[in-house]
Formats: sequence, C-alpha cells, structure tokens
Amino acid sequence: MHSINFFSEDYQENPYYYYQQMHERYPLFYHEPTDSYVISLFEDVERAFKDPIFTSQNYSWQMEPIHGVTMIQMDGREHAKNRNVVVPSFRGKELLEQTFPMIQQSAASLIAAFNGRDVIELRKEFTNIFPIKVIVDILGLPGEDLHLFHRWYTLTSRQFENIANSPEILHTAMAAMEEYRQYMSQVIDERKEHPGTDLLSVLCTASIDGVEMPKDRIMGFCSALLQAGGETTDKALASMFRNLLLNPDQLALLRQDKTLLDRAITESLRYSPPAHMIYRVTSEKVQVTGGEIPANATVVCMLAAANRDASKFEKPDEFNILRKEIDPKTAYSGATGISSFGFGRHFCVGAQLAKMEMQVAVEALLDHMAEFEFADNKVPREIGIFTRYPESMSIRYKVKI
Ligand code: HEM
Repeated sequence: MHSINFFSEDYQENPYYYYQQMHERYPLFYHEPTDSYVISLFEDVERAFKDPIFTSQNYSWQMEPIHGVTMIQMDGREHAKNRNVVVPSFRGKELLEQTFPMIQQSAASLIAAFNGRDVIELRKEFTNIFPIKVIVDILGLPGEDLHLFHRWYTLTSRQFENIANSPEILHTAMAAMEEYRQYMSQVIDERKEHPGTDLLSVLCTASIDGVEMPKDRIMGFCSALLQAGGETTDKALASMFRNLLLNPDQLALLRQDKTLLDRAITESLRYSPPAHMIYRVTSEKVQVTGGEIPANATVVCMLAAANRDASKFEKPDEFNILRKEIDPKTAYSGATGISSFGFGRHFCVGAQLAKMEMQVAVEALLDHMAEFEFADNKVPREIGIFTRYPESMSIRYKVKI
C-alpha cells in the first residue's frame, strides 16, 4: 500500500495538497511511523464516526495522562450515560437564556481592552482567551482566577497539537494538571456543600447508576471541557479572520449582509476545521474505499480532508460563503453537512455553543473594526497537522465610529 508521510516538511507546509492526493490516489493508506490506517473521503470518515466497529479507545495516550478517562474515550452505554450528564447544559434554551449574555459580556470586555490601539495580536488578545473565559463562566469557576485556568489550559494544549510529542511536553502538561487538581479539589468540596445552577454544580450533584461522580472524574470533565472547547474555538475564530482577510470579496459580502454570518462560520469551519485528524480503533476488520482495515488497527480519520472531498463539495479548495452544499441551519446538529464537529454518538457536545461564541465574537469584532488588514502585510502562517491554525495574527485596524 502506498503512503504519505505526515512528518515530511512538505506535508507540514501544505497538507491540503496531500488531501487531494489522498482522495485521488490513496483513499486508504498505511502510515508506518504511527502504525495507523488513514482514511480521507467524506463518506468513509462519516461512516467511521457512526459505525461502532470504529471505537474511541485510541485517545488514551493523548488524553488519559492529562484528563483521566472522560466521555471522549468511552464507548457504548458508559459513554451515553456520562455524556447525558452534560448534554442538557449545552442545549438551545439553556444556552440562550443563561450563556448568551455572558458570552456577549466576555467579547465586549476583551474588545474594550484593545483600548483604541491600531494594531492588536488577535490570537493573544482575543481568540485564545475568549473561549476559556466562556467555559470558566459556564462552569461557575471563580472569574478572578481566569489567568490560572488559562495558564493550565495553555500548558496542557501542546499535548493535543501533534501526533507525536516530546516527553518534555507531556511532563509540563502533567505538572500543570497537578496544580489544577489541587486547586479544583477545594472548589469541588465547596460546590458539593453549596450547589448552584452552574455546570460544575450539575457535575457535583450528578449520579450515574445511583453512584455519585468521583472527584477525579469531575476534575477530568472540567479540564476536558476547557481543552475541547478552548483550543477548537480559538483556532476556528483565528482561521475565520485569516480566511476573510485572504478573501476580501467574501468579507465584503458579509459586511453587506450580516444574515450571511451563519454561512460564513460554517464555510470557515469546513475550509479550516481546527481538528484535522481524529483517531478510532477497529474492533473487527472492516472494508472502506481502497481496501480493508484489519481488526485492532488505529484509524486516522482525516476530517479536514473529508471537508475538501470534491465528490461532496464543488471546488472544495475555494472559500465560498455562498456555497450551495451547506445548509447553515443543520450545520451544528448531528445532521451537519461538514465533518468539523464529527458525527454520530460523539458529535461535538459544544457545537451549538461554539457557533454562538463565533457569532458573537465575529459580529462584535466586525462592528468594532471599520477596516482591517494583516499588520505589515504579513499573512499569518498556519501550523500543526493534528490541529491546524494561524500561529499568530497581528491585525492593523481602524475603529468604527
Ligand atoms: C467532541 C470539534 C467546540 C466539547 C468533538 C468532536 C469534534 C469536535 C470533531 C468529535 C470527537 C470524536 O468524535 O472523537 C469541535 C470544534 C469546535 C468545538 C470544531 C469549535 C469550533 C467545543 C466546545 C465544547 C466542546 C465549545 C464545550 C465547551 C466537546 C466534547 C466532546 C467534543 C465534550 C466529546 C463528545 C463525546 O465524546 O461524546 N468536538 N468542538 N467542543 N466536543 Fe467539540
């Protein structure tokens, strides 16, 4: 079987070229350095998320040392029971009534801190902090300690950015998690005594099969939410601004007609999903386009490649907010037409929240900035192959009066 090397410099520079190669020549290939089978066609990726032959167990090496066992690595009834504890907090009504005003407030306070300067670093000053602030609020954690949560999150994030890491990255992440656990232990004790209406109180008072959730599990739930909701939304927002600036005609369309915002968000998530790869492990041998994957094999599902599948999307390498294949109304439900939130039983719990965060943030930033461009005309470089995102993003802008 032919192969493509994820670790080559060329691949790291422009994985999109290789996504096309995968579709045309290697819809299934074996990646020897990581002992995994790679699938990339939309149809195969969607099936891998939906078919229980593809289990979620291979997250262990990445997730377990940091967050312990969470719903992300679980399968079957155990997964459903754990997931159901948090699902109601991420549904439309709760989100609209409780969370929407907090999100607006968070975006406004970060924009106020730009303080009339004409150049900002959008990632550092906005996209990297905003989703963490939102999750800290939803969990009902002390807002004055946002800097601590942000630090722990930043130190653990590097573990999730690539498909192979140095031991130093894991060591730093584990030390950060030790500090986090000591801090959270006391907060959880207090919240169990005096529960409120926040998500941490939901976790502290929940029971599964009549058994209270152990403290370790609650801590892992919270850190996994900070991770899953933080780095994805940060990267999605930064990529969206990069896409809009690289496609001024599309930015102009959005400026003219704000009702296109949902479409623009969905198209940006299709074009530049934060997570490019997600793992599964086969419980038995299975046939996909291009051949057979054996039992107990690690499968890399190429979400970003699936979103560029020409049999699903016309001119897939064009960023087009009017594209006809996408119905923005279903894009954040299980029936999504893009692969960026996954599919099936592990479909992103936070998809509605992420959409709401992106709507609020993009609207508030476009309202604040009359005109904007990359500072010094420097197009931000995209990095990462597991998750992919603009490394930094300096923006020069004029305040809207
Ligand atoms: C699951 C993407 C935002 C929480 C997932 C999965 C993807 C994804 C692809 C599926 C993983 C799998 O099947 O193995 C994204 C993207 C986001 C985003 C692109 C932003 C643009 C969020 C937010 C939260 C969140 C804001 C919550 C605060 C979760 C959780 C899971 C998950 C808890 C695991 C669900 C399960 O295993 O049943 N996300 N996510 N995500 N996401 Fe998101």
